Amino acid sequence: MMCKRCNLKNKRRRIPVVGGMTSWAALLGLVWMSMPVSAFTTGELEATNAVDAAFELVDKLGYTQSGTCELAALNSESNHIAKGRFFTAQCPGGRLFLKVDGQSHAEIFDAVIQLQEKMPTLSGSILQPLAEFSFRKGGGQLGHLIPRDYYSAYRWVEGVTLGDLLQNMHQSGFDAGRLAGLYRQLGRLVGAMHRAGLTEANKPLQQLRSRQVHSDLHPRNLMVTENDALVILDVDSFPAQGEEAFVHQAVVRDFPDFLLLRGHFVLDSPLSETLLAMLPEVSEALLGAYCQSLLGDDKAAACMSEIRELLIEDAYRYYELVVKYPRLFEKMAEKYPKLYGCLRESGAERGRPVIPVIVDRDELDRRLDAVFGPAFAGVCAAHSPVRLGG
Ligand SMILES: Nc1ncnc2c1ncn2[C@@H]1O[C@H](COP(=O)(O)OP(=O)(O)O)[C@@H](O)[C@H]1O
Ligand SMILES: [Mg+2]
Repeated sequence: MMCKRCNLKNKRRRIPVVGGMTSWAALLGLVWMSMPVSAFTTGELEATNAVDAAFELVDKLGYTQSGTCELAALNSESNHIAKGRFFTAQCPGGRLFLKVDGQSHAEIFDAVIQLQEKMPTLSGSILQPLAEFSFRKGGGQLGHLIPRDYYSAYRWVEGVTLGDLLQNMHQSGFDAGRLAGLYRQLGRLVGAMHRAGLTEANKPLQQLRSRQVHSDLHPRNLMVTENDALVILDVDSFPAQGEEAFVHQAVVRDFPDFLLLRGHFVLDSPLSETLLAMLPEVSEALLGAYCQSLLGDDKAAACMSEIRELLIEDAYRYYELVVKYPRLFEKMAEKYPKLYGCLRESGAERGRPVIPVIVDRDELDRRLDAVFGPAFAGVCAAHSPVRLGG
């Protein structure tokens, strides 16, 4: 049994019974006193392989008190590196997601835990680490020379990742209204998260820095639950203690992936028109919610135009890159044939990817205008045209 839990139980038992006190303040006080300051625990495991270590971990966390846990390895088809790193434990007290890593993230998890304490309303939407325990894969006399691995434990989130949802929509058709709802949530979440960690709030957008920046935010790190609530996963990439990140840099790095501005957006593909039909609504939802949450209603409009400009510049940079290196797409088509749907089906080159056609500069301008509005034509004009095939 973990000491933290014992302390917690003792604390709970020691709460005095306050006769006749019915005010909300008193009630809240009691609730607060009975909550752990932080439920996060750390420690060491004796087991010397990932499976035994997982059993030892759930046991130490108290999940086996009223029965046994069933452990299953989670292997990602698309990522062979993932093999042996992810497990799920189905226990009487709930289901857990367990992850093995080569380094400790306990210090970084502090940022997520602080965020939860500061903004309890966000806690259901950002995965909270429950524990991190180290172990050594391998024992024997020289076991102490083997570097330690680290198991982190989280509650299991039932759902489909936004990445899988987008991929399904690629095949079955995009639901712009549903995506706009999800992206509004995403914008609100990320904006509130960045805002919670701002070092100085009253600065121009491009000088705002935050301690609460998830540095690995992409569609596969977001879970969409059954009732379309979003949960941010993979929370081990916040800045380390004492460090911070520029929020606009995070936005320009992360949002293009969500808005699908890379990939099909620059291709002459059957999907292009579908994307163009939904992106105005979806990007407005994301940017609007982000800016409102980050800076409030007054400053939202200015913040949105600034971010739009940054995203357009990024789209041009990406375009220049793919025009220069069209083999990038060949590689993507090989890796994600379903997404790019273009493996040759007949002839001597059967099975080889067809290189998708990259749109010309005028068409890119037209597309960016369609998504972000003609008001941004100035940004387009500032970029010198790139010659195709050069
Ligand atoms: N708490 C969770 N509950 C259910 N599935 C999860 C959970 N956390 C992550 N996953 C799934 O496992 C995948 C890999 O986990 P992640 O933490 O993103 O690992 P990595 O650091 O390798 O990217 C995610 O893309 C998601 O599909
Ligand atoms: Mg991930």
